[in-house]
Parts: sequence; C-alpha cells; structure tokens
Amino acid sequence: MAGQVTIGDFYSEDRTFPPPPEFRATALVKDRSMWDEANADYEAFWARQARELVTWFEDFDTVLDWQLPFAKWFVGGKLNVSYNCLDRHIEAGLGDKVAYYWEGEPGDTVVLTYRQLHAEVCKFANVLKGLGLKTGDRALIYMPMVLELPIAMLACTRIGVAHSIVFGGFSPDSIMDRCNDAEARIIITADAGYRRGVASGLKVNVDAALAQCPTVENVVVVNRCGLDVEMEPGRDHWWHELMATASTDCAAEPLDSEQLLFLLYTSGTTAKPKGIMHTTGGYLTQVAFSHKYTFDLRPESDVYWCGADIGWVTGHSYIVYGPLCNGATSVIYEGTPDTPRPEFRQGDPAAWPKDRLWDIIERYGVTQLYTAPTAIRTFMKWGEQWPAAHDLSSLRVLGTVGEPINPEAWMWYHTHIGRERCPIADTWWQTETGGHMISPWPGVTTTKPGSACGPIPGIFIELVDDEGQVVQRGGGYLTITKPWPAILRGIWGSPERYFDTYWSRFDGRYFAGDGAKLDDDGYLWLLGRVDDVMNVSGHRISTAEVESALVDHPAVAEAAVVGANDELTGQAIIGYVILRGTYQASDVLREEVRQHVAKKLGPLARPKAVILVPDLPKTRSGKIMRRLLRDVVEGRSLGDTTTLADQSVVEELRTRALDAPAED
Ligand code: WTA
Repeated sequence: MAGQVTIGDFYSEDRTFPPPPEFRATALVKDRSMWDEANADYEAFWARQARELVTWFEDFDTVLDWQLPFAKWFVGGKLNVSYNCLDRHIEAGLGDKVAYYWEGEPGDTVVLTYRQLHAEVCKFANVLKGLGLKTGDRALIYMPMVLELPIAMLACTRIGVAHSIVFGGFSPDSIMDRCNDAEARIIITADAGYRRGVASGLKVNVDAALAQCPTVENVVVVNRCGLDVEMEPGRDHWWHELMATASTDCAAEPLDSEQLLFLLYTSGTTAKPKGIMHTTGGYLTQVAFSHKYTFDLRPESDVYWCGADIGWVTGHSYIVYGPLCNGATSVIYEGTPDTPRPEFRQGDPAAWPKDRLWDIIERYGVTQLYTAPTAIRTFMKWGEQWPAAHDLSSLRVLGTVGEPINPEAWMWYHTHIGRERCPIADTWWQTETGGHMISPWPGVTTTKPGSACGPIPGIFIELVDDEGQVVQRGGGYLTITKPWPAILRGIWGSPERYFDTYWSRFDGRYFAGDGAKLDDDGYLWLLGRVDDVMNVSGHRISTAEVESALVDHPAVAEAAVVGANDELTGQAIIGYVILRGTYQASDVLREEVRQHVAKKLGPLARPKAVILVPDLPKTRSGKIMRRLLRDVVEGRSLGDTTTLADQSVVEELRTRALDAPAED
C-alpha cells in the first residue's frame, strides 16, 4: 500500500510524551473510564453525552436507528442549534461573556458578547424569513472570515435553513456547481475580504456564477472593504440595509434531530464534488463533546483559537458549532499569518514581520491553538525567532488537523510554541465524520510525535488488509466499524454514490480512504490517502477534478495528475499534459494551462508544475500509472514497470520532469 508520508529514522516510535503532571492534575479527563463506559455500551454513552452537552426541547426516544449505510441519531428529539449556541448561555446569566474576539487583517477589532451575537443572529434570521426562506431551504454562503459569517450560519440554523458554505478561495465555476447541486435559493456574500493587505473580491465571483444559477432569488452582500460592486436591483441587497430594520425578536424553531443542518462539498475520486450532508442532533453532540475534551476546555477562563477558515469543516465544527455550544470564548482572525498589523508593514511585503499569530496569542491570552501541519511547517521555515519574541505562556493545549504531521513539525510545535509544556492533540477526522475521531486527549494520552494515537471514546476503528481481514499490527486501510453521532447522513442527491463511496469496499465497514499503521503499542499512524485524492496544505483536491479542468483547456488532449510529496504543503499537484496535435509546446502555453486550472477551480488547485509530455505511461488495460508518474516527479527509482505498455515512455517522462521548473 502506498503511503504518502514516510516515517523517518529521525525519531523512534518509542519516543513518548506523557501528559505533564501539572496539566494532568487539573485535567477534565485523567483516566480511561470514558473509553470503558463507551466500550461497554456505546449507544448509552452517546445518549448520556447528548443529554449532558445539548439542551433538547423534546427528548429523543431512540438513540440510534442504524440501517447500513443510513444512520439516524437521537430520533424523536427536537432541538435548535442556535438556541444551544446562544439563548441557553444567556438564560444561564452568561450574556455578557465574550463569544468572539474578532480581528480583521487591517487591525480593526470587534468584541462580540453572547448577547450581542444573539441579537445579530435573530435579526438576520428575520431577514432570511423576510426574503421568503423557510425550513428545509438551502442557502449558499461565500464569505471572508468576518463575523457576519457565523451570524449567517446561526441565523440559518435558527429557522431550519441548511447552509452550504463555499470556501472564499473557490472560483465562480465551483460556486455555480455547488449552487445548482444544492438548488440554493439565496447567496450570502461580501464585496471582498482582506488577504495579504489587499481587498480580494468575492461578489465579482458570485456575479460570474449567477448567470448560470437559476434557483437563486436573492443575494445579500456584506460591505467589508467598501468596494464598488455591481448590485442588481431587486435581487442584490446590502446586509447593513436589511439589518437596519430587522427585529431582534425571533424564536428558535424546535427542529427534528435529523433536520439537515448543512451541506459541505468535498472532493472525492471523481471530478464532481460531493455534497456531504450533516444533520442536527448527532452532529452538535459530537462536536461539542470533542471540542470540550480534546482541548480540555474551561469556558470560564479559556480563550480558544482555531486558525482554520470557516469555509472548511474544521471551521464549521471547531470555530462555530463546538465552541459556541460549549459557551467558549474564541478568537477569529480574518487574514494571513504573514500580514502584520498595518503599523508594522514597511517596505517590501516579503520583508514584513511574520509574527501575526504569536502577536495575537500574546494580546488575547490564547489558551488553545488549533492549526494545520502545513502552517506549522511554514512557521518553521520563517524561523523560531518570530514566536520567540512573544509571550506564549497563556497556551495550554495545541492541536493539529488536516494531514499527517511529520515528527519534525510536531517537535517544533512542541518546543517553540508549546514551550514543552503543552500537550499536542493530533486530530484525525474528515468532512464526512463531522468531528474528531482519532486524537489523544491531553490529560490522559501519552503522545508520540507524528501519531494521532487512538480513537476518542465512542469511536471504533480497525485497520484491514486488501481482503478485509483485521490487521492487528502494521499497515492497513483505516475503517470505522460502528456509526457515530456526527456521521454524514449521505451525499446530497446521490444515495447510491454514498453507499458506493464509503461502504462498498469492505463489507459492513466505513472506509475512510486513508491508510494507517498500528505500532507495537497499538498507536495509530496515519499515512495519507490511498485513493486518488490529494492533500495540499490540508485541503482535499481530487486528481480527477484537476484533470478535468486541464482537459477543459482547448490545447489539452489528455492529462494525468499526481500529488507529489512536498516539504511545505504535504503534497503538491503535478499535471502531466499531452497537447493536441495543432498546438506547439511552449512555456507560455504551459503557464496558460496551469492558470486555467486556477480559473476553473480556484488558486488552491493550481498545479505547482505542468509538464508537457508526448505520452503517458499506461497499463495494458489503459489505466494511467499514477504511482509511476509520482515516482518520476519525486526523482525516485522507478520500481516495477513491467506492466507498462510502452517502456520508453518512462525515460522520456523522466527527462521532461527534470526540465520542468517548479512554480509557485
Ligand atoms: C486527512 C479535515 C492525518 C485525511 C478535518 C482525511 C489527516 C482527510 C488528519 C480529510 C490527521 C485530516 N492526520 N491525516 N490528523 N486530519 N487528515 O475532509 O486524509 O478536509 O481523510 O477534513 O484529511 O480532509 P477533510
């Protein structure tokens, strides 16, 4: 089985970090009794969590209705997510508690209490109602990291409208595909958002998509950057104008536990992204549960910060729903880590100080930091002098998510950010799982750098071999053997695709697409995807999606895409392209093809390099040999190529790969 990450010799699997005694002394969880409880009766365990962490308008009568592959959790229960995230905290006397410390990239700040957030959410829920939205409708959200984003999400949940958030870096085509698949009635967006000191336009992308989004009746636009944007009368409305007259009075609707909460599109092995469906009661239970215990949350004193974008599942679960349900105080930062506050921006942007994150941690007294390995590797590259110049003593727990963390990055995080005091939670999960599945818990687990350790209580994981036989030690495919509360409820509009994608490979098991290995102590080491999905800076992009964007260019006859190991981004996208006969290979054309992908899918999916080749290596049955292409681009030995139809293709490829410069 081909893993993406090599477990190096640098460290040993025996290198262990027990929870620091001072930390363990006061930790929320200090022993494995929760695992014992869940192993004895996992339904009863999750029912207890659901009743403890969530307030129900009506209690549920059935904990789990499981008809593989369809799960229903807490059936018969009625609840409201925005009530759980807002009203009940205010009713408990915590209305003046800070929900979010928000900092814009230009240094502007907003402190929003639970009471203020509640008022804004009620107003926007009334705006949505005024525009004709009702329970069961879908709203597409395409926004920067501004407070209006969680406000819009919570307003949707208040009245049972499902949101579908499209990450702000995605292209008009991506908006259009997702909008049409979900049949969204409204798009909520902004003129632009700040990134690296400039206003990066969003409404303009929505406009480009809208021509082909027939279901959209209204567009609401937040004025973040004061850009002059086109507003179509009757269809487009300014957020601030609608909010100016909206009432703060809006009851939270009691919704079914299985009411659709949101869709989030994610890449699979085909070119068409899948609308992952999450519902209300089970999802909220698991994200509140995992947020509380993975980060040892003390809502009364902690200032928690997840640096992800809300457009990804990490932001949904661990910036918005988990933290707010738990009554936490969080930080949200709009911009990029290499953009300092304006007073520190002198000269060439490349020379700007790279300490915005550490500056924020010091100023707000951040207690938990949750970020991605790719970000950590970038901070390593920038150098430890940046964090060293700041007081990071408020930090208690560190987290990572999105891809396997290499031990070197783990050690750097531990040493230079955690200052050897803070447990690290390497959390493995997926858009499909909704919340954490595998992670150490800071007061209990002895960690090993690079290992996600083991499942959290109530989650059941097994590795299997090609035949589906359980593997006790060594490498295997990661499978989940029992349903969990935040499990995806399906793929929007494609029940068969749901079964085929996740449940058909191994009988009775959810197959996650990841390979992993179990060491002699039973610790899990995630090895990356075993399917045709790449992981670039923690973001999932399918080879098929990029290939179809490449062949969409008129000059391209055939394309094959591979994810090659990359020091910074985990994997980098490399596109092999065969030109149509009438086109001449040139650097200009190569660059044009490369930019074409960015135009179709967004800059994240732009190949690091496009290599023009006369032919592609194929098996006799015509399948492109991706492994071989990856080996070529990584300059490795070619291994076994006896199944290659035309051996000479490889030599040719190798010379071209060496010629092709890697681009940013
Ligand atoms: C990968 C992100 C190793 C994995 C929450 C998974 C990880 C995919 C980890 C899901 C981790 C995520 N260690 N690999 N701690 N966390 N992954 O849907 O391949 O954007 O299948 O969800 O990211 O990516 P997604």
